[in-house]
Amino acid sequence: MEEWQAILACPECKEGLAIQGNGPYCSRCDQSYVRRGEVFRFLDEDKGKAAMMERPDGEAMVKGYRSPPTLVNALRQVFSSEYFPGKAWRSARQAVLESEGPILVIGSGVTRYSRAIHLDLDDFPGVDVVADAGALPFGENSLDGVLCEVVLEHVARGESVIAETHRVLKKGGRFFFIVPFLFPFHGHPNDYKRWSHQGLLTDFAAFSELEVGIHGGPCSSMVNLLTEWVYILSGRTFPKGYQLFKGLATVFLFPLKFLDFFVNRFPEAHRLASTLYITGRKR
Ligand SMILES: C[S@@+](CC[C@H](N)C(=O)[O-])C[C@H]1O[C@@H](n2cnc3c(N)ncnc32)[C@H](O)[C@@H]1O
Repeated sequence: MEEWQAILACPECKEGLAIQGNGPYCSRCDQSYVRRGEVFRFLDEDKGKAAMMERPDGEAMVKGYRSPPTLVNALRQVFSSEYFPGKAWRSARQAVLESEGPILVIGSGVTRYSRAIHLDLDDFPGVDVVADAGALPFGENSLDGVLCEVVLEHVARGESVIAETHRVLKKGGRFFFIVPFLFPFHGHPNDYKRWSHQGLLTDFAAFSELEVGIHGGPCSSMVNLLTEWVYILSGRTFPKGYQLFKGLATVFLFPLKFLDFFVNRFPEAHRLASTLYITGRKR
């Protein structure tokens, strides 16, 4: 058994779990959970995927998530609306990744970090735990670090993820979240909220040493909003025009995003930030 499996807890009652042959068992709830290969499942089979498939582009999205890294995918990153310059957010994330004990990545998708436990609604390649971010299957004070990148907006009650992060972190444990501020509606599988710099400080007030900063800057926002606007204008006439029209607009507008290399340093840049990060520690 890998060491981290000892900190698994029942997502309902938070009692420690007995790891048996087929999967973990909660004696208090008399509830068995499933272990398939190396993956622990705390949700009904395919619940996450089913939610994803309710979206019109759900199938393409899941397929995209499962596709291996290729040169085409790498080029897509360059010709996209997003660019994330700046050292501050990278070093804040690195500080969490360098925590000594176990680190949890909430809503990891296909992102992989060495030494981390990866949790998502769906069993994307590399996911260790299939569970809901609002009911984490880990014991109180059991983790040294939590990462949660562009996930909070997809959870109906995002505050439950913040409260769960506080519960599972050890005293002094660090977290790092990225959230959207000025970002078009998008679903993975749903999309509920946005956060300003002040909203973040309020929602994470239970933690100490809070630091909020820009992840995606104002120029990324402009490219994102303009390309999405072109799609909206074209979408009525061509309902399937999303990829085509947004793609064409992005080809013309994407170089604008590189201005964020300079603009992100302006004192008021957060007013139009595309995405913000917040980091801090449990008191
Ligand atoms: C925009 S993707 C971000 C993936 C990854 N963090 C990254 O930065 O590439 C959002 C991820 O959150 C997951 N997710 C959405 N709602 C969730 C929930 N309630 N519990 C756990 N994961 C969730 C989705 O399945 C998806 O993988």
